[in-house]
Amino acid sequence: MITPILMLGAGRMGGAILAGWRKAKAFPPGEIMIVDPQPGEDALAAIKAGAVLNPPESELARAKTVVLCVKPQAWTEAAEQYAKRLAPDAVIVSIAAGVKAEKIAHAFGGRAVARAMPTTAAAIGQGTASLHADTPEALARAVALFKPLGTVVELSDEGQMHAATAVSGSGPAYLYAFLEALEAAGASAGLPPAEASKLARSTLVGAAALLAKSGLDPVELRRQVTSPGGTTEAALNVLLGANGLPPLLRDAVQKAMRRSKELGG
Ligand SMILES: NC(=O)c1ccc[n+]([C@@H]2O[C@H](COP(=O)([O-])OP(=O)(O)OC[C@H]3O[C@@H](n4cnc5c(N)ncnc54)[C@H](OP(=O)(O)O)[C@@H]3O)[C@@H](O)[C@H]2O)c1
Repeated sequence: MITPILMLGAGRMGGAILAGWRKAKAFPPGEIMIVDPQPGEDALAAIKAGAVLNPPESELARAKTVVLCVKPQAWTEAAEQYAKRLAPDAVIVSIAAGVKAEKIAHAFGGRAVARAMPTTAAAIGQGTASLHADTPEALARAVALFKPLGTVVELSDEGQMHAATAVSGSGPAYLYAFLEALEAAGASAGLPPAEASKLARSTLVGAAALLAKSGLDPVELRRQVTSPGGTTEAALNVLLGANGLPPLLRDAVQKAMRRSKELGG
């Protein structure tokens, strides 16, 4: 049994998960309990649909699956607060960046733990979740939670969760930052800012949709739109040059990985 599900923390990421479950009709809303002092908009929508907010402590022992969605800095406090109220066979699924399953299991009285690193596109069923667990049962629990929200990638080595966090968990922000930079470049090249934004956003969304729909490799798609000696090639000589995107992203991913390790303590 996966349900009842207890969400500990329902801010930006917890809210996105709740929104995605609601959209996919993944679980009956009445089977979801939410504990959060200040639930966000998506959590409030889940509550309106029938989820239970801040149930009495005696109810927490009904939870079969506990999704730990507080900030990495707040997880130990949450564990101290709730671990003793949970059923011994409750499975903990943590989305806290960097924090090892072993540490979480210890703080939650030795309960089974799975780790997940999701993305906020879970809210629209297009999330990506990297998953790891030491036991097949805990992994199956995480898959059941995240499969309705988009793509899941199972990682057998927990150490790879740092890299998955750096590439995927933080990844959407990279694309948004790229978009901001492209919009700014368009404006500084003479486009009115509103038109620069419209062109940049629509172009990226269309290109991403084509990538998804065509099933082609990005390398192939790039080749298709790069004529020898043309405008795209001139730009790519900069973007893929010695100081271009590959070394920049390698560095960015390394920095994110280092931070993930620091957050894990
Ligand atoms: N945002 C992302 O894109 C993303 C992606 C992947 C993974 N994550 C992971 O998701 C986790 C949460 O991040 P977030 O961005 O969703 O943070 P957030 O928006 O701050 O949400 C955390 C929520 O938990 C609540 N909370 C704090 N302590 C609590 C406690 N003891 N009991 C119950 N609720 C408590 C917070 O309430 P207050 O505001 O009152 O403190 C807040 O509503 C992090 O571990 C992060 O690594 C986030």
